[in-house]
Amino acid sequence: MYLITLDSQTDFDGWRKAARTLALHHVAPADVTWGVQGQLNGETPAGLSEAPSLPPVEIESTFNVPADFIALARVTILHRDDDRFALLYRLLSRLKADHDLLERMSDPDVALAAAMASSVHRDAQRMRDVVRFREIGREQKAHYAAWFEPEHYIVAFAAPFFIRRFADMPWSILTPDVCAHWDGHAISFTPGVSRTERPEPGRLEETWRRHFEPERPRASATRRRNLSEASILEPLLTDAERWTGGRIAPRPEAPMPRKTSAADDLEALREEAAHCRACPLYKDATQTVFGEGPKSANIMLVGEQPGDKEDLAGHPFVGPAGQMLDRALEEAGVDRKKVYVTNAVKHFKFVPRGKIRLHQKPATPEIRACRQWYEREVSAIQPDLIVAMGATAAQSVFGKITPIGKTRGRLIDLPDGRKALVTVHPSYLLRLPDPEAKALEYQRFVEDLKIAAGLQRKAARAA
Ligand code: URA
Repeated sequence: MYLITLDSQTDFDGWRKAARTLALHHVAPADVTWGVQGQLNGETPAGLSEAPSLPPVEIESTFNVPADFIALARVTILHRDDDRFALLYRLLSRLKADHDLLERMSDPDVALAAAMASSVHRDAQRMRDVVRFREIGREQKAHYAAWFEPEHYIVAFAAPFFIRRFADMPWSILTPDVCAHWDGHAISFTPGVSRTERPEPGRLEETWRRHFEPERPRASATRRRNLSEASILEPLLTDAERWTGGRIAPRPEAPMPRKTSAADDLEALREEAAHCRACPLYKDATQTVFGEGPKSANIMLVGEQPGDKEDLAGHPFVGPAGQMLDRALEEAGVDRKKVYVTNAVKHFKFVPRGKIRLHQKPATPEIRACRQWYEREVSAIQPDLIVAMGATAAQSVFGKITPIGKTRGRLIDLPDGRKALVTVHPSYLLRLPDPEAKALEYQRFVEDLKIAAGLQRKAARAA
């Protein structure tokens, strides 16, 4: 009997190394007990006190396993079931003699591993759907935090999504297993916050301060593991290569599933957003101006924020910028009735000047605070193309400040599989004083929108 103790619940490298050695020594799965450091309560199971160590394996000893197995094992190992290590070793041992084993879904081991991997993926998707960052700390040193209770050990697995989505803001995701921290450059992990310290609604800041406020001695004593995004993703590829000796192309991130959960139902979202207090803009604005358009829209247009007219009417793009947009859309051949139109910021920001309300550009904290609505609109509508009109919209769509000049007029891949198109804001055209420049810029705007029109026609043909 062999006892293998892994370094952590997600120690895939440790499992791989041990499994490879065991398999090359033809050790039967029934003769191996798997555990994790610190989980055996200091006791060695009966009969294992004299567990033999395996002799090192000759360098040329090798065998091939299908790349799909590595991908499956990488994910399955994140399941919370204690038997997963043994299950994976059983599969590995059987694969030596039966290379096509994974193709037989009726096999109980294969089916169980696949079900576990699906459960892990679902949990990671749930994390992506429900994690909502709250701003904590003072404005100059804003930090964003969220509490999440994963079903499986998925925090590091799901972290790259949050890194890409929230690249330009420092955030922490606190969970009972492990806490992930992004400072804008690198990700680090610290031990989890126990469930007994689970933050009450609205008390997240207290928990965060207790554990992580930099001035506190406890935080400096907290063990941090710094990892770049590449160091999280790269093992997925290199491990597969080590087993198989071949280069494996990275799998593209799975696109978000079509259509939405009840939680993100548009009408429920609209209602929830009507009471949004995530930033101070609600105080002076008349109302939240939420996005509008059919749920089936495959194009989403994103503007900056409602203007004076929109604030009063409660609908996006109904004032002068809206009229300019309508004209350009028509000329480009885009049917506005079939697109979803929204803004990066849902409340009108202005300063009163006598009888008029003077438009103010939204600041980054306001854009960030409002981004949750944009994300949830995307999740409810599932557009194929998102058109960012102007710098504020681009900042929201890409999750970071994005210069228009460098990105304008071409389709850009978003991490979730959608396309983005950056163009100018119609208000910019309205403000141009020189008629010639205005006409020229307007034409460029129409040309940009023609890209969206092409996509709309293609979707109509495919429907
Ligand atoms: N400008 C915007 O960005 N959005 C509107 O809804 C109106 C003007």
